[in-house]
Amino acid sequence: MYIDSHAHLYVDQFKEDIDEVISRALASNVQKIFLPNIDSRSTESMFALADKYPEVCYPMMGLHPCSVKGNYKEELDHILEVKKERKIYGVGELGIDLYWDKTFTEQQVDAFRTQIEWAIEWKLPIIIHSRDALHLTIPIVEEMQHENLTGVFHCFTGTIEEAERIQKVGFYLGVGGVSTFKNGGMDKTLPSIDMNHLILETDSPYLAPKPYRGKRNESSYIPIVAERVAELKELSIEKVMAITTINSQRLFASAF
Ligand code: NI
Repeated sequence: MYIDSHAHLYVDQFKEDIDEVISRALASNVQKIFLPNIDSRSTESMFALADKYPEVCYPMMGLHPCSVKGNYKEELDHILEVKKERKIYGVGELGIDLYWDKTFTEQQVDAFRTQIEWAIEWKLPIIIHSRDALHLTIPIVEEMQHENLTGVFHCFTGTIEEAERIQKVGFYLGVGGVSTFKNGGMDKTLPSIDMNHLILETDSPYLAPKPYRGKRNESSYIPIVAERVAELKELSIEKVMAITTINSQRLFASAF
């Protein structure tokens, strides 16, 4: 089976046909889907989906860096409130995004560190979103290393050197649709990444793989990503499925 380690199937784009989206995922042998939250506005719909498909969809809680604004402390409090009442399987997504807006960089860093501390305390993996920010996120993770700290740099598009540093701290690299893009750059980095540090993701509804690029992404496209990884790593697709699934099971141990 496959695991989609990162999908936002609870957003409005799936409102009309979520049941079919889940059916197609299962038909493509994508049996488990991990749902990173965005902020307090998406919490309710995320848990509604997780409750509807308890054997398939696993909820997580975190504050997305693009949602870190002036009220970020309240948003962080919201996570603590929900955590008291609900079981979650990871902390995410959290991180730093300097691509869209640098206004709240300091607050993004503070929210990132705070959530890492919680993940250590809760013994849960972290789902890192890092855009134009690996020069900040990698050193923070290196500095905060802890026996309870593990996680994934989701949608990794960095350099070989950055990939090596991430692997050195025992983290995983999330690979999705970007690996199929001609200008994605993954054809250069992926061959040097250890398979034992690689997990598959879609980031649905974003970043659909070729030939669906630009359209809505969904979890049933995971085998397309696996095929691309198999091609770049010169492995069979079965092998890619087996190794990445074991990796995801190790990362999200509390769900298995
Ligand atoms: Ni995401």
